[in-house]
Amino acid sequence: ADAVEHALRMARLHTGRPKVLSAYRSYHGGTQQAVNVTGDPRRWASDSGTAGVVHFWAPFLYRSRFYAETEEQECARALEHLETTVAFEGPGTIAAIVLETIPGTAGIMMPPAGYLAGVREICDKYGIVFVLDEVMAGFGRTGTWFAADLYDVVPDLMTFAKGVNSGYVPLGGVAISAEIAATFAERPYPGGLTYSGHPLACAAAVATINVMAGEGVVEHAARLGGEVVEPALRELAERHPSVGEVRGTGMFWALELVKDRETREPLVPYNATGQAAAPMSAFAASAKAHGLWPFVNMNRTHVVPPCNVSEAELKEGLAALDTALSVADEYTR
Ligand SMILES: Cc1ncc(COP(=O)(O)O)c(C=O)c1O
Repeated sequence: ADAVEHALRMARLHTGRPKVLSAYRSYHGGTQQAVNVTGDPRRWASDSGTAGVVHFWAPFLYRSRFYAETEEQECARALEHLETTVAFEGPGTIAAIVLETIPGTAGIMMPPAGYLAGVREICDKYGIVFVLDEVMAGFGRTGTWFAADLYDVVPDLMTFAKGVNSGYVPLGGVAISAEIAATFAERPYPGGLTYSGHPLACAAAVATINVMAGEGVVEHAARLGGEVVEPALRELAERHPSVGEVRGTGMFWALELVKDRETREPLVPYNATGQAAAPMSAFAASAKAHGLWPFVNMNRTHVVPPCNVSEAELKEGLAALDTALSVADEYTR
């Protein structure tokens, strides 16, 4: 969250513009600005409305906002929607567009080919800072060092945390382009933190990165993701009517659970709690009873094991997932 705060402050100071555009299906952190750029319901209770944030729809073919039937249509229409939003908001008022390269908690929606390159073009055209949030997707999770590597796109600012030091102690940061760094070479960046550059956190990052490179952790995540996780999840989807869609890459996967594959009605309603969320609670209880702690968000479960997980551990977890999906199946039509 600190990294996102500082990325957006830098973008505003660099451009002299007030607004930030971000996606509805997103999560960017718990501090005031970060939770306001967040799209998911965790924003609502703290939404200050005037924080200079405008939300837009990023591409997601399975639940298309654009009546698209192909990834190409979804991509083109999402880009047209974004550029129109920029035009109507006033390009000269927009400091930054911030996106998770692949949204994490919001559902691991892989952007269609060409989307991020298209956002890069819109940013260049209107002098907008392009911020990619890789707090969840970065450092090997996608089977590449950064999710942006999958799409051959270079942002102006990139936030990172979690995987940078394997989470041993809290550390977040922002990678800064030469152009934005030059702005703060001329005038100091008006900020400072008690714990910036904390030696323990940074030493853990250096050690983690060295181990990841030395042991081939990223290649391992890519290989087991492609050879074990993806085929297993696709096979589960064939057998379990509750699985509407499987999507992801590397060690970063989501299963969209539905009541009905034809209508794609979610297994539980958007932001359901209590009794309304019972099918997902029953699914999670079954997974836990079989030794798997599942990530559950609304009607989704995510399969996001450690990047150094073994094949045997994966198979054990996938077997528990198989059993728990049979519980979810009981709630389908
Ligand atoms: C993509 C992304 N950005 C930012 C954050 C915020 O991090 P923090 O835990 O510091 O609030 C998260 C947290 O999960 C995240 O997933």
